[in-house]
Amino acid sequence: MATLEKERVLDVHHWNDSLFSFKTTRDPGFRFKNGHFTMLGLEVDGKPLMRAYSIASANYEEELEFFSIKVPDGPLTSRLQMIEPGDEILISRKPTGTLITDDLLPGKNLYMLATGTGLAPFMSIIKDPEVYELYERVILVHGVRHVSELAYQQEIREDLPNNEFFGDMISDKLLYYPTVTREPYENQGRITDLMTSGRLFDDLGVPAPTIEDDRFMICGSPAMLKDTTGILKDWGFKETRHGNLGQFVIERAFVG
Ligand code: A2P
Repeated sequence: MATLEKERVLDVHHWNDSLFSFKTTRDPGFRFKNGHFTMLGLEVDGKPLMRAYSIASANYEEELEFFSIKVPDGPLTSRLQMIEPGDEILISRKPTGTLITDDLLPGKNLYMLATGTGLAPFMSIIKDPEVYELYERVILVHGVRHVSELAYQQEIREDLPNNEFFGDMISDKLLYYPTVTREPYENQGRITDLMTSGRLFDDLGVPAPTIEDDRFMICGSPAMLKDTTGILKDWGFKETRHGNLGQFVIERAFVG
């Protein structure tokens, strides 16, 4: 296993009874690309208990941030949800992953499609000024069952567009589309249905995606990945594989 770094919890935020996020200290030598994940965990019975977690903070930030579900009987998350500032967290020094802008052919519009905690890697990417230089539009779609699971809304809708360094670029280019499936909300329905009906693109006021112009990053459950990539493949899009750049990349949203 890669070297484990000990970091301290700085802040914990409980979004609802099934989701929380937390910030930790960051060793200055810990380097990653926006969109990467790493192994994270706690020492349990003298041994590290580790799971994969996408890094929700951007690589220029001083602290690390992670977004997690709470699984009542989950070996790690049942413990992790109890952490408090000052507690120690183990973090692997080998971040990796496929949701990085370098792994896509150049394009005009970047879609990031997430369900649940699949939002985490995209929180890192939308804070990356470079993504706004690479794309004309950056479109974040977040699908959840319940409104209370729409985490990070304040950051996406208010803090980022008001960022003193690149707020203007974000206001111009970032489109955010939250959608809820199991209770009333301004946008409703599964991401897959919104794509096939065309509703997503109509609501966003953008043309239907084309192989020339549009790129996709997808992070969700295995079923969501399968269905979403099925649609893209039907539309003629290709996944980046073994270094051959395509028009989309995918990663499983990790479960603790
Ligand atoms: P639904 O409520 O219709 O199941 P989950 O918590 O199960 O991962 O679901 C998160 C969100 O992803 C929910 O809105 C859920 O919709 C949706 N979802 C679940 N399975 C799929 C799928 N195969 N394709 C697209 N969206 C899905």
